[in-house]
Amino acid sequence: MTPDVAGYGPRPLDLNLPNSARLYDVFLGGDHNTAVDRELAARIGAEAPHWILGARLNRRFLRRAVEYMTAQGIDQFLDLGSGIPTVGNVHEIAQQGDPYAKTVYVDYETVAVHTAQQLLAGTEHATILHADLRDPAGVLDHPETRRLLDFSRPVGLLIVGVLLFIPPEDRPEAIVAAYRDRLAPGSYLAISQASNDCPLPAVAAEIENVVAGYRDSDEQLTLRSRDEILSWFAGTELVDPGLVYYPDWRSEDEPLDQAQLDCRYGYVGLGRVPRRHDD
Ligand SMILES: C[S@@+](CC[C@H](N)C(=O)[O-])C[C@H]1O[C@@H](n2cnc3c(N)ncnc32)[C@H](O)[C@@H]1O
Repeated sequence: MTPDVAGYGPRPLDLNLPNSARLYDVFLGGDHNTAVDRELAARIGAEAPHWILGARLNRRFLRRAVEYMTAQGIDQFLDLGSGIPTVGNVHEIAQQGDPYAKTVYVDYETVAVHTAQQLLAGTEHATILHADLRDPAGVLDHPETRRLLDFSRPVGLLIVGVLLFIPPEDRPEAIVAAYRDRLAPGSYLAISQASNDCPLPAVAAEIENVVAGYRDSDEQLTLRSRDEILSWFAGTELVDPGLVYYPDWRSEDEPLDQAQLDCRYGYVGLGRVPRRHDD
């Protein structure tokens, strides 16, 4: 499959160019990556060690957000930019709480999609779309999405670690709104996004190195202010502790070390669409 005329759609596979999905796989300790991915990941890791810790904190947020939503009774999830499957995938976490929980994954990177297809073979309650999240109608109205997800009931929408790859000209606010507007009351929206306001100068310098490093990959990074990220939660109520730096999201019962606590280069939040009687 190739991208459509607007440049949207599944990405062409190029194993000679470092790719964001496979770089993340390296950072998480996975083995679905190539020598060029590992070389660039090593360079980024040497110049920005907190980025690797941060990738793991990002994954931790994803897990904890799904656990939280599952505990609130959410039994269907849409995971945009789901990545190469790794330890603790959304459907596995969700099905620990409810074996019949449904998950639709979406990614436009070939290795991520093929690896997920292998993992999900024979799994009735989860699927992956080889699709571009910048096409909300294409994702939301896809027959597989319609088969598994019922948008008249609450859904857990995950847009984690992916909006940083969507440049301003693609209007991430409109993309998020298009998905958010389909959510029934009682639904949740989980977002994480790297930022440019890290209060620790050494870590702030690291993130500049990361942005420079990704220029040698197939995707560029866009950092964003807290206000911009907050605006993506419009119409939802943020679950405690609100929109906070990665290490500050519900860490009381899973304490972090100092290096992890220093990973203040981006924000995570979980918003809940109010039920009508909450209004
Ligand atoms: C850093 S990984 C994040 C994986 C997972 N969400 C997590 O947080 O652990 C980002 C993923 O988003 C995917 N991605 C980036 N832009 C995308 C787009 N426009 N449509 C679909 N997937 C996209 C990449 O291919 C990659 O697999």
